[in-house]
Amino acid sequence: MLGSFGLAMWFLQRWCTMQQMDADALIQQSQQYLMNTYGSRELMLVKGQGVRVWDHTGKEYLDFLAGIGVNNLGHCHPCIVEALRTQAEQLLHCSNLYLIAPQIGLAAFLCEHSFAERVFLANSGAEANEGAIKLVRLYSKQKFSDERTTIITMHQSFHGRTMAALSATGQEKVQKGFEPLVPGFVFATFNDLKSVERLINSTTCAILVEPIQGEGGVIPATPDFLAGLRRLCNAHSLALIFDEIQCGLGRTGTNFAYEHYGVVPDVMTLAKALGGGVPIGALLAKGELAEVFQPGHHASTFGGNPLAASAALAYLRELFDGQLATSAARMGKFLRSELEALAARNPCIRQVRGVGLMLALELGPPLAMQVVAACRQQGLLINAIGEHVLRFLPPLIITEADCREACMKLDSALREVGPP
Ligand SMILES: Cc1ncc(COP(=O)(O)O)c(C=O)c1O
Repeated sequence: MLGSFGLAMWFLQRWCTMQQMDADALIQQSQQYLMNTYGSRELMLVKGQGVRVWDHTGKEYLDFLAGIGVNNLGHCHPCIVEALRTQAEQLLHCSNLYLIAPQIGLAAFLCEHSFAERVFLANSGAEANEGAIKLVRLYSKQKFSDERTTIITMHQSFHGRTMAALSATGQEKVQKGFEPLVPGFVFATFNDLKSVERLINSTTCAILVEPIQGEGGVIPATPDFLAGLRRLCNAHSLALIFDEIQCGLGRTGTNFAYEHYGVVPDVMTLAKALGGGVPIGALLAKGELAEVFQPGHHASTFGGNPLAASAALAYLRELFDGQLATSAARMGKFLRSELEALAARNPCIRQVRGVGLMLALELGPPLAMQVVAACRQQGLLINAIGEHVLRFLPPLIITEADCREACMKLDSALREVGPP
């Protein structure tokens, strides 16, 4: 006879088996029905709360990737959930033919808290960059000449996967196979001002740069480089565009990454963390550039829709009123010191780098993918950029205890995978 404990265990085992059967079927369906853009994925997440997520078996993970720099307030933060619930009960969507208060509030908030004077709202990072590319070209054609349309961007940059955004991306692996690319992009070497200067000619209209390259391996621009780009743009009447899609909005310990450098762009793109987990992108501009788009030039069915705009406004209020960036700076220092202590003990680690809570470890051996998999086994989510770089983009609300726990798990994973 089964006692009550035995009965409970029997039910639990049955429940887990059923969950596993469902999960196996779903994983099989994912391989059958979804285009294979993300490779084979086995981890199925069903719940998130704060800095933790759970898979379908109930296993818990410390999330140090945060949706690749999206969930800056952690998962299901009450302010985002509440904003979405309230808005969903009132108006889900109505098109940009009509005004809605959350969109106006969001645009006003962004302008009142940044260098910008006007905003266009989109749905993603790539789309915000598409808007930026259109904006600077139109401006340059209207103000200067039809030939002045070339944009200088950087090798190892990343600006998205749509056609113009990938043409602006300085990585062959992103572009290969999708030729013909959108013309009008030339590539300089990140942190090498002379390489930018050499590319400027009578067809140049703008310079597009990430203040801290993300997909390129978490590489901060030097202060001299960004200050030099500003000088070049001023001297040649070029637009300076900062892509802060990954590094903006508190991630690096300031509200916007440009604040670290004291260099103000003319145009900036945001996305990722902006909606607190809901898709939204934004294109911000000042001065004459802010006045370029007129009816018919650019639009989006969903851009800044009521749900996304409400969530974004809730995130921004929390960012600016809740000292989120300050705590990201403090936690960034702490996590970095823990990673440096790990690096001192582990000869596999070549370098710790990054700013605030946008951090990376460079490994000597090409083991990044294996370390990511071993971390997952340990209950820690991070990701790999190529074969040598481990990236950490945790929620900005992490504590010292979370950092210590993550480093312990990482330490075990490195010992499991690394050379003896
Ligand atoms: C710097 C940067 N720009 C643009 C993008 C593209 O954003 P999305 O994936 O939302 O289109 C990304 C995404 O990783 C990014 O990191």
